[in-house]
Amino acid sequence: MSGEEAPEAPAQQQQTEQEKQPDEPPAAASDAPQEPASSPAEEEVFSCRALVLTGYGGYDKVKLQVKTRSKPQLQAGEVLVRVKACGLNFAELLARQGLYELLPSPPVTMGMEGSGVIEAVGEDVKNRKVGDRVIVLSRSGLWQDVVLVPADQTFVMPESMSFEEGAALPVNYLTAYMMLFEMANIRPGKSVLIHMAAGGVGVAATQLCQTVPDVTVFGTASAAKHETIVQGGVTHPIDYRTKDYVEEVRKISPMGVDVVLDPLGGSDTQKGYGLLKPMGTLIVFGAANCVTGQKKNLLAMAKTWYNQLSISTQKLMQANKAICGFHLGYISDDQLIVRTMATLLELYNQGKIKPRIDSSYHFEEVGDAMKRMHERLNIGKVILLPEPKKEEEKPKSSPEAEDKADKTEARVSEEKKEEGNTQEVKKKKKKEKQLYSITLPRNNVL
Ligand SMILES: NC(=O)c1ccc[n+]([C@@H]2O[C@H](COP(=O)([O-])OP(=O)(O)OC[C@H]3O[C@@H](n4cnc5c(N)ncnc54)[C@H](OP(=O)(O)O)[C@@H]3O)[C@@H](O)[C@H]2O)c1
Repeated sequence: MSGEEAPEAPAQQQQTEQEKQPDEPPAAASDAPQEPASSPAEEEVFSCRALVLTGYGGYDKVKLQVKTRSKPQLQAGEVLVRVKACGLNFAELLARQGLYELLPSPPVTMGMEGSGVIEAVGEDVKNRKVGDRVIVLSRSGLWQDVVLVPADQTFVMPESMSFEEGAALPVNYLTAYMMLFEMANIRPGKSVLIHMAAGGVGVAATQLCQTVPDVTVFGTASAAKHETIVQGGVTHPIDYRTKDYVEEVRKISPMGVDVVLDPLGGSDTQKGYGLLKPMGTLIVFGAANCVTGQKKNLLAMAKTWYNQLSISTQKLMQANKAICGFHLGYISDDQLIVRTMATLLELYNQGKIKPRIDSSYHFEEVGDAMKRMHERLNIGKVILLPEPKKEEEKPKSSPEAEDKADKTEARVSEEKKEEGNTQEVKKKKKKEKQLYSITLPRNNVL
């Protein structure tokens, strides 16, 4: 592709940055009624590890930071969750490049999904208790080892579900389910073209297609992943890197397909529309073509924008086709999310869906985790683990990833030293309070 970037720098192993601020009040308590100050000895010291986007750019912009502070106070309706695993989404690759409008500007803690154990519940929380294993969903802020969230943004995990699976489920499966069943109304005998079929959403969509009889799945993916996606339910795998997928689909199904799930944008949206059978549905839900590597590529963005599908309603009418857009982040109907999560957890219990974990990386290795997705190596979900990496521990990823991680240069990421200027110190402290707030705002569900 003409917009390709120069070879990327290796991902950096990140080192934690520790700062102690025992005197600073907990962010969660800042709006709460003032209580008598307890002596430092009485105050429970509380440490928080968070992955913070410190600016837009490459892998090194996401830093692991550790803060020590006094214990946060729960508000009514909230639960405190010890996070065990978090999901990495393509949206976070976009966000790191400044291309995801729903993430507040840096510095900000990223993370839209996670799983963990409830350690404390606030007043009025009736349906959650200490010890519950839960999935958590939010627009951002979940890449931390502990979070305060409204109880209604948590979903109790089935007993047999691992924390990695719990963290892998919500974003990918909600997206795939709502597109297939709410928008496309997939029915027996239909055919679906799934791009990025070996990725998180792709695997979820393929599994969900299997819950409907006789659905044919065309799936595009890099050739090395074909065996795995066929085992997962893809009927016709297509190597989009070496073949024209439109031709490949037409060789098998000259009329085209009933549904196209398009996470790519640009010229692929035009191709998808062209591949639709009459009465078919195209769902646009991403613009991965804007991303060619770790740094923002303006040429690729311009090309994607220039080639986007533009069509008059009259032409659409005459073609008998439907075009939809889907974005989970803009779903404001919380009940729809709660209902769909209940359906998905039921499907998991019935053994009909199961998140496929590609690899797990500790927070320290977030650059490697992102690199794995950028380099198109993952099959299924990439997971981030808040638990500190033990010295002797090998990466919990595939041998391929281990090899890459070995080659990765370790680099200490250092934040700028605090400036002596009092004004700047004040500003910095104010920002840090926001940054290390482990309370996620209400109505922050995706
Ligand atoms: N609208 C929504 O609500 C919503 C929600 C979730 C995800 N999404 C979109 O769905 C898509 C998939 O997201 P995901 O989180 O499941 O990620 P993912 O599929 O796991 O992404 C990585 C895989 O995608 C393929 N790929 C294709 N183009 C790529 C590119 N330009 N850069 C890197 N990889 C590329 C690669 O596999 P192959 O080479 O094998 O194809 C790669 O291994 C993204 O476009 C994302 O923005 C949208």
